[in-house]
Amino acid sequence: IRGKGNLKNGLSHLLTEVSQGYFQPDVGGKNIPVAQGDLSDLAGDQPLFKALYQWFLDSGGVFKLVFGPKAFIVVSDPVVVRHILKENVFNYDKGVLAEILEPIMGKGLIPADLDTWRVRRRAVAPAFHRQYYEAMSAMFARCAGRSAEKLEAAVAAGGGSAVVDMEAEFLSLGLDIIGLGVFNYEFGSITSESPVIKAVYGVLKEAEHRSTFYLPYWNLPLADVLVPRQAKFKRDMRVINECLDGLIRLAQETRQEEDAEALQARDYSKLRDPSLLRFLVDMRGEQFSNVQLRDDLMTMLIAGHETTAAVLTWTLFCLAQNPQAEARVLAEVDGVVGDRMPTLDDIKSLPYLRCCLGESLRLYPQPPILIRRALGPDTLPAGLRGDPEGYPIGKGADIFISVWNLHRSPHLWKDPDTFRPERFFEPHHNPEFGDKWAGYRPDSLKGGSALYPNETAADFAFIPFGGGARKCLGDQFALFESTVALATLLRRFNFRLAGSAEEVGMATGATIHTANGLMMRVTRRTPPPSPAAAGAQQQQQGAGKVAAAV
Ligand code: HEM
Repeated sequence: IRGKGNLKNGLSHLLTEVSQGYFQPDVGGKNIPVAQGDLSDLAGDQPLFKALYQWFLDSGGVFKLVFGPKAFIVVSDPVVVRHILKENVFNYDKGVLAEILEPIMGKGLIPADLDTWRVRRRAVAPAFHRQYYEAMSAMFARCAGRSAEKLEAAVAAGGGSAVVDMEAEFLSLGLDIIGLGVFNYEFGSITSESPVIKAVYGVLKEAEHRSTFYLPYWNLPLADVLVPRQAKFKRDMRVINECLDGLIRLAQETRQEEDAEALQARDYSKLRDPSLLRFLVDMRGEQFSNVQLRDDLMTMLIAGHETTAAVLTWTLFCLAQNPQAEARVLAEVDGVVGDRMPTLDDIKSLPYLRCCLGESLRLYPQPPILIRRALGPDTLPAGLRGDPEGYPIGKGADIFISVWNLHRSPHLWKDPDTFRPERFFEPHHNPEFGDKWAGYRPDSLKGGSALYPNETAADFAFIPFGGGARKCLGDQFALFESTVALATLLRRFNFRLAGSAEEVGMATGATIHTANGLMMRVTRRTPPPSPAAAGAQQQQQGAGKVAAAV
């Protein structure tokens, strides 16, 4: 950023206070451009990833922030991202992030070192299969139905309309769904509050603080910030751990041969409890210690709750400001789902809604930054615009992959800041980059497993769930859940922003959420007759005509 002081001084002053220990010394990357800027770019209301966007426009797809003897490399180029996440994935672990999350998630899948991760991923991944999703989609619809009833009651109490914080509603919905889907636990947070729910929110808040240590609360004195929080955090962790330990014990004590057989045959119709925990205890029991099980459950609870709520929040926010897109989604939902509960099969016939979710994830990626540390030396490829030599880096180099920059890159997307779900139906390739970047290929969305816009279709310009070996395990779970929830709610209610879009604001933690809640005026919607009812009506009219003719 031109015309300002050197970033080095400002950041070194700021970062030495709290986060010095997290980063590795500046190792390698000697030819990587060093961003110039001023501390004021990071302070104030602006989240870090927004400051990184300015530097990206100025310094390019690979640049370095240097503070004192330490540094981190910021990557916003799809070719380099593909290299780190896919082509040389096993040269990287989660570095700083693992250190921050370890007290919460232990050696759960997200922070796990590669040796632990290999064993655990192989054991857990098979649990996410079609029959599981089918069992889950009925539960998604049931929970979304509960949210709809709650809105219905609020609207009735308000004499036909109510102002509701939809972000809070989506957080409750997300928590209930993840509880049932992962460990068959009924949080019941849509309708009530319990000590466990409070503890989950407490830990989420702490996870958020810990993973955003680079935001402006750095400069507060460490002890004042952490000591009282630390005590509360420990209390919350104890409540959740006791709850999870109890659920694991229960699953172990109620283990039955018939369940194991039904799971083996993937016959979920015979299962009393289709949760992931049942699968892990029945099918992988001997491979897991209880602590490992708990770490994975905790990881999925944290990974799958706020993220999904954020996607729903921002999709509704964007639709409320884009009447044409909203009308197109409503026509799709009315035509496909009608008054039934949405099913897994319906999702195939809701392409526009799927792309609205993709577009919301493009504009508001969760999390906006992925963190890596090099386990050995590597050479980052030149990227789309970079130095043809590439960038040699050393063991221990800290890397931030800016998903925000990738998703809003003016080099990769037309109108990058505009909500335009139809972009995913259009191919996009910037000829300036020749063959280095394949561009967006909508054809790859047509396959069964690629129903939603994804990193393969976008050649790593779009990585809402990461990519490569450490890609999100719950991506389909989250997208099916979000599609079913929106189809259920949009059919029954009109949602309008209660204030201005600016009032909604934006704040960041591990996810991007609103600053002031998503306050919406909710009214009942009178939907057109459902396709089945319309069909029956047409048949009746036809029969009437036949009768009249006779
Ligand atoms: C990993 C995003 C929902 C479980 C990830 C990663 C991203 C992500 C970007 C990769 C992190 C990295 O590379 O550093 C999201 C988003 C979600 C979502 C945007 C919702 C829209 C879920 C759900 C679950 C889940 C519902 C569980 C049911 C996981 C796990 C990993 C992960 C276990 C670690 C995978 C590994 O390292 O092997 N998620 N996630 N996520 N996510 Fe999700």
